[in-house]
Amino acid sequence: GTGGSDDGDAGNYPDDNITFIVPFSAGGPTDTVTRMIAEPMAKELGVKIVVQNKEGAGGTVGAGEVARAKPDGYTVLMHHIGMSTAPALYKNLPYKPLEDFETIGLVTEVPMTIVARKDFAPATLPDLVTYVKANAGKVTLANAGIGAASHLCGLLFQHAAGVKLQEVPYQGTGPALTDLVGGQVDFMCDQTTNTTGQITAGKVKAYAVTTPERVKSLPDLKTTAELGMPQLQVSVWHGLYAPKGTPKAIVEKLSNALKKALANQAVIDQMAKLGTAPVPADDATPQAHRAYLEEQLTTWAKIIADAGVKAT
Ligand code: MLT
Repeated sequence: GTGGSDDGDAGNYPDDNITFIVPFSAGGPTDTVTRMIAEPMAKELGVKIVVQNKEGAGGTVGAGEVARAKPDGYTVLMHHIGMSTAPALYKNLPYKPLEDFETIGLVTEVPMTIVARKDFAPATLPDLVTYVKANAGKVTLANAGIGAASHLCGLLFQHAAGVKLQEVPYQGTGPALTDLVGGQVDFMCDQTTNTTGQITAGKVKAYAVTTPERVKSLPDLKTTAELGMPQLQVSVWHGLYAPKGTPKAIVEKLSNALKKALANQAVIDQMAKLGTAPVPADDATPQAHRAYLEEQLTTWAKIIADAGVKAT
């Protein structure tokens, strides 16, 4: 079923702080989107929302924790596209996306960028492909662990380029980007919610954006399709989840608060600056979110299998 168990109303919910679990490091892209909506949602619900980072294993540690949390509406997960890719990447995932969660609503879809340390030799995306093929043994590709969006985008890049690189896993792309700026790793794929500031400030080199159209906030950055790599397309959709069995009326209350937050002009403006936008109101619902999750699980299982990637 969709949208929680039980009929009836939400009772006094909420009458205590709500915890939003972010399954990646503080200061990174998932954290950024979560904090943008947490405040207006808290205002709407009349309680505090505490954002907690439970990073590890490409987002699967935090997701597993919420799957096992009490289904009372006080523990909520913000996750992204990784919810739909992890089953194809892990043999022993500690949760089942469609069985262990109630979907609350979709939040946003974030473009990705391919970025490198400032002094990395290749100048363009085609140069990057040539360079990594010639230097496969020594080039380092950062990501936020197996199951992260950066990991998925890195897989697609390597598959499109026909190369296998040395991957450097972090617990989130927040710390990975810090190392990229510091020159400790060579390049990565990461969300515009994390990279826009550093690209604009000239602290990293940007090669391409992974969406069909360019993003308004980085108007000069070409798309992967424009640069001859149309196979490399990925948008990082986000959604809110409650543990399976959370009462339907509580899930609805959270979904309605999410809808209000996404209509907030300050949220729309903050997102636009970072290359993204809230989903349409109809998608911030348990039903639309569940339908999209189902479709994405099928889509990514096939793409990951076609890329020859085996679950670990
Ligand atoms: C993060 O918040 O660190 C990211 O979403 C990591 C990723 O999935 O690449």
